[in-house]
Amino acid sequence: MIRRNFLELLGGAGLYTTLKPLMPEYLEKVSLPGTDEDYWAQIQQAYTTSPQIINLNNGGVSPSPQIVQDAVERYNKYVNEAPSYYMWRILDQGREPLRENLAKYAGCSPEEIAFNRNATEALDTVILGLPLKAGDEVVLNPYDYPNMLHAWRQREMRDGIKLKFVKFPIGTEDETKIVQAYQEQMGPQTRVVHITHVINWNGQILPTKKIADAAHKIGAEVLIDGAHSFAHLDYKIPDLGGDYFGTSLHKWLSAPIGTGMLWIKKEKISKIYPLVPNDSPKSDNIRKFENLGTRPFPLEQAIGIALRFQEAIGNVRKENRLRFLKNYWAEDAAKMPKIKINTPFNNSCALAHVSVEGKTGGEIESYLFNKFKIHTSPIQWEDLNGVRVTPHVYTTLKDLDRLKEALYQLSKA
Ligand SMILES: Cc1ncc(COP(=O)(O)O)c(C=O)c1O
Repeated sequence: MIRRNFLELLGGAGLYTTLKPLMPEYLEKVSLPGTDEDYWAQIQQAYTTSPQIINLNNGGVSPSPQIVQDAVERYNKYVNEAPSYYMWRILDQGREPLRENLAKYAGCSPEEIAFNRNATEALDTVILGLPLKAGDEVVLNPYDYPNMLHAWRQREMRDGIKLKFVKFPIGTEDETKIVQAYQEQMGPQTRVVHITHVINWNGQILPTKKIADAAHKIGAEVLIDGAHSFAHLDYKIPDLGGDYFGTSLHKWLSAPIGTGMLWIKKEKISKIYPLVPNDSPKSDNIRKFENLGTRPFPLEQAIGIALRFQEAIGNVRKENRLRFLKNYWAEDAAKMPKIKINTPFNNSCALAHVSVEGKTGGEIESYLFNKFKIHTSPIQWEDLNGVRVTPHVYTTLKDLDRLKEALYQLSKA
């Protein structure tokens, strides 16, 4: 309907052909909250997910659509015809166009992004590569991802830096309270503020830009963990206000498993020592972070296919759909006896954490899987004790109706 009206508006095929490249963006702006089930049924067909298990742990890692899996297989076959030739002389040629395409999507310069294997590698590059000395302080959150906490703790142990933990009101809708919690830990010795854009435990979205602005005011730098927000929420990396950003591409971009990306503001590149040094570790060339040794080129090159798939859906449409899916089950679940949603509805998208009075996360997870074949992630962390439920673009409303039924039965058990 929208498409037809738009074509009529353009007044004929000739003009349509001229303006065709503008179509997706235009349609994205006018497309509504993601309830076109015919459209989403086609997206579901692009995936090869199991009809036997309802996978609602897409927060762990995403499956790739068939076209991405095919690309991995195709590139892998080339490589195995003559590995050193196809890897270093053929597939390697694809890295720069890929860098440009991904940079355009992420809203930054290609000179600011490096490819690697995952968010852990991207973020650890910054955490372990930043020049910090004993007494320097880093502000972080007990709900940051464990790998990042481990890396900061290693620096504490090795270099004598001090870690200042935010007293974090998990689940609150109150952004001012969150920013204040970070500010309370900032002081004259603060060198870095580590911010998880979307908290993996409960899907809460943090007011990253506001926290980053407060950090910059006192002269600290900002590292953003975008593992769960990239290709999930509609934003450009520089909008978040950070100096450093790391993400996995095998989460919301649906790129092959084992792909990630590091972004560093151009003027900050030279000060970060790479995890795996090349011949010029103090250079300001972002490629110094890609000296990873021999690695799976087919995975890296297939990122480009995942990016095309993402762009065909469009960020706005995807974000709307994911939020719609979360609300579809969580709003009803919140009304059931003994059930609590521990995720702020207004500051979240696909991921949500649910608890059931009197049950542990492990018990809820087992019940959902054993009785209903619904796969979720048990989350018992700090004040949270329940399961995380994460639909994806291929999740159907029927799947979520089954989840609601399962939660309802559990709430009465
Ligand atoms: C917030 C957050 N940061 C970092 C990571 C690490 O991602 P990866 O295992 O792909 O390195 C995860 C993984 O779930 C995460 O949720």
